[in-house]
Amino acid sequence: MGSLDRVREILPQDVLEVVERETPIPTIAQTAGRLSREDPTFVRADIGQIVSVDSELEVLYGPPVGIEPLREALAEFWSLTFRVAEHTGTALKPENVAVTTGAAEALTLLFRCFGSEKTVALPRGYWENYVNGVALGRGRPVVVDYFDAQGRLDIDGLSRQIDEMNVRCLVSNFPSNPTGAVLSEEDAEQIARLVQDKDIVMIADEVYSRLRFDGHSPISLLPFAPSHVVSISSASKEYLLPGARVGYILSARSELTNAVLRKLIRANTASPNVLGQERVLALLQEDLKALRAGEEPALLVKIRAELSARRDQLVSVLSRHGMSTVGRPDHEPMGTIFLMAGLPEWWSGNDTEFVDAALERKAFSAIPGSAFGIPESVRFSFGSMEAKSIQELDRRLQEWKAGIS
Ligand SMILES: Cc1ncc(COP(=O)(O)O)c(C=O)c1O
Repeated sequence: MGSLDRVREILPQDVLEVVERETPIPTIAQTAGRLSREDPTFVRADIGQIVSVDSELEVLYGPPVGIEPLREALAEFWSLTFRVAEHTGTALKPENVAVTTGAAEALTLLFRCFGSEKTVALPRGYWENYVNGVALGRGRPVVVDYFDAQGRLDIDGLSRQIDEMNVRCLVSNFPSNPTGAVLSEEDAEQIARLVQDKDIVMIADEVYSRLRFDGHSPISLLPFAPSHVVSISSASKEYLLPGARVGYILSARSELTNAVLRKLIRANTASPNVLGQERVLALLQEDLKALRAGEEPALLVKIRAELSARRDQLVSVLSRHGMSTVGRPDHEPMGTIFLMAGLPEWWSGNDTEFVDAALERKAFSAIPGSAFGIPESVRFSFGSMEAKSIQELDRRLQEWKAGIS
């Protein structure tokens, strides 16, 4: 059973107790806030922070699920970007959004809600921190293959793996960190049908959804199966603000975002970073102006053009050194800020030894593919390399290879 229509029935008992526990402080604060807006002389003795010593310095606590204008902007942003109303008949509203301390908190809380004591399936080529999130949520991580050896979505194979391993929570992450693999609309339709047929929850990590270089529109799985998919995203990537710690969870079922997560976020962090949310809101409002006019946001166009050029340059440098891209077979890395490359023939050790040797030579850093479930490969971030660093990588690989042969 995994329909978000019955979210309280699928929560583990200990999480449900937190969700259902009476919380007098926020309840009174809500009434008090309303009364003091109506009557500025209303006396507030309920607030747990120091006020009116130096009001210039004050940054007050925010609501657990995020400041209202940001929730409103995110609901509109997601609805416009992914044509939510066209698919589901209704656009998302502020109550369908819960702002979190980065997508990292979003993942930990969702694993706690939907993966506890259950088998949670990660896509082969997974962000390695998922394993920690599933462990904190007391789940059992397993790895599943979405694609066959030709790089086609293998929906029957995925269905078989779900049954064989009794998977109750499936994670998707497209465009993928680490491989850059993306989904087509047909892929999304099939995956959505599968999670509905199996009645399992899908956590769709869509932090890179708009960083896609193949010219296709970005895809979110949420509108394809609103009763079973919870999407998460973040300001860390597209708004260049990882330090702001602003992520968010979207669900077409507001019981999750407005009620369940309100309690869990309050228990976990009290609220996401208010200053960070204000920064993100300003950038999002610029994006919304463009989206409402049917145009692509200028910042996105700029970031995507730069990343796409870096990706092309990196792919050509690596292939010159015998390191071809791996991931979704027969599929170029088409999104994110990463790519995976196979080990070169001139290297006889494994991926960890390759990266250790590169560090030992003080040549360059990268992450061994085994950290992401794809051994014998290496993940390079072109998010962190400008054109001149990619040229330098070329020179250093050349020097290394010449020393070996
Ligand atoms: C796939 C994926 N999900 C989630 C995150 C976490 O992002 P945030 O900075 O919003 O916590 C990252 C960060 O690298 C990521 O690559």
